[in-house]
Amino acid sequence: MLENRRILLIVAGGIAAVKVPDLIRRLRERGASVRCILTKGGSQFVTPLTLAALSGDKCYQDLFSLTDEAEMGHIRLSREADIILVAPATADIMAKMVMGQADDLATTALLATDKPVMIAPSMNVMMWTHPATQSNLQILKTREVRVVGPSAGDLACGEVGNGRMAEVPEIIAALTRFFQKSAGQGPLTGFRALVTSGPTHEPIDPVRYIANRSSGKQGHAVATALAELGASVTLIAGPTNEPDPDGVKIIHVETAKQMMKACTESLPAEIVICAAAVADWNVESAGGQKIKKESGKTPALKLAENPDILATLAQPGPSRPSLVIGFAAETENLIENAQLKRAKKNCDWIVANDVSPGSGAFGGDNNTVHLVTADGVESWPTLQKRAVAERLAERISAFVERNL
Ligand code: C5P
Repeated sequence: MLENRRILLIVAGGIAAVKVPDLIRRLRERGASVRCILTKGGSQFVTPLTLAALSGDKCYQDLFSLTDEAEMGHIRLSREADIILVAPATADIMAKMVMGQADDLATTALLATDKPVMIAPSMNVMMWTHPATQSNLQILKTREVRVVGPSAGDLACGEVGNGRMAEVPEIIAALTRFFQKSAGQGPLTGFRALVTSGPTHEPIDPVRYIANRSSGKQGHAVATALAELGASVTLIAGPTNEPDPDGVKIIHVETAKQMMKACTESLPAEIVICAAAVADWNVESAGGQKIKKESGKTPALKLAENPDILATLAQPGPSRPSLVIGFAAETENLIENAQLKRAKKNCDWIVANDVSPGSGAFGGDNNTVHLVTADGVESWPTLQKRAVAERLAERISAFVERNL
């Protein structure tokens, strides 16, 4: 992914600049070309000669250098790149980026660029947590500046906390993800995912049906998140008000039996996520005519069990998908019930969520879930359903990377 990518690396004045030579080496190993701008502060920690030698290019330092400007003006410098990476990004350069200050070559290039920008912040923990820096960070994020790190740990100043620049492999991974995304690819490219979402409607007669309160928000968000990571997604959706997500193949169904049929017809897939709230029963006695109201008489509905889609897809066999995930909406003994469900339905993971009255899960935008796997239970904070989906998609990517 980094092959032939042109990276303009701005090295600002922080101790983490000592990691930059290794970063350049690793980027070049992966086929990227690196051109450096070194700020005055940066040159206190790493020399221009080191950067020039390792990048195999000139190291640019001065805004008003007659020779540099003649050879390669600062505008061209900022445009002849696929991405600008600021590593380390100090509190000072972040503040200057927010203000649009351009008082040296680095800040001028950042203001003049039309290319994406990524920063790897590095500073003392108090500087990082200071409201000024945090507010600058938020502003930069709204301007689509990508941020990698910082992480927590020992800081060069002797204090401990958040502020360590992301390690080189993390920066490489963030750049790789960025280029994958812009190429419409991701860690799940080449993998097929089947997602069920929404409720099912079980007809009582041609005008009436049995339904449930599922909105389809969580299942649709899962389909979107998987597609964003490059998976080829088929979403089998019961009747919902959710718009069809972009970039996924969608099959609309009404009943559980139709959902079951659409699922089996959409296999094979490596990943299956059953997020639909499938009705447990259909009305066996449903007929072709509207049931007439007759005073003093109530019709009896004869129910029959619906197929269990999750359990069917998770059955052992040569064509079983590698990762089958179910949802468990419970109102009591959440984790215990989810663990039992995982075993009973033979699925690999269960996303357990509390749908008791007051949880707001049904129809709401937030969800509080626990991921139940063979390794144990991971409890996530209350997140937007979109964020739950993104986290789940990340976990799926990690599984795919380890196992497939
Ligand atoms: O048994 P219960 O409905 O609580 O299980 C929930 C999980 O099973 C969800 O993942 C749901 O999508 C799936 N399920 C299914 N087919 C059914 C019933 C539930 O796929 N008939």
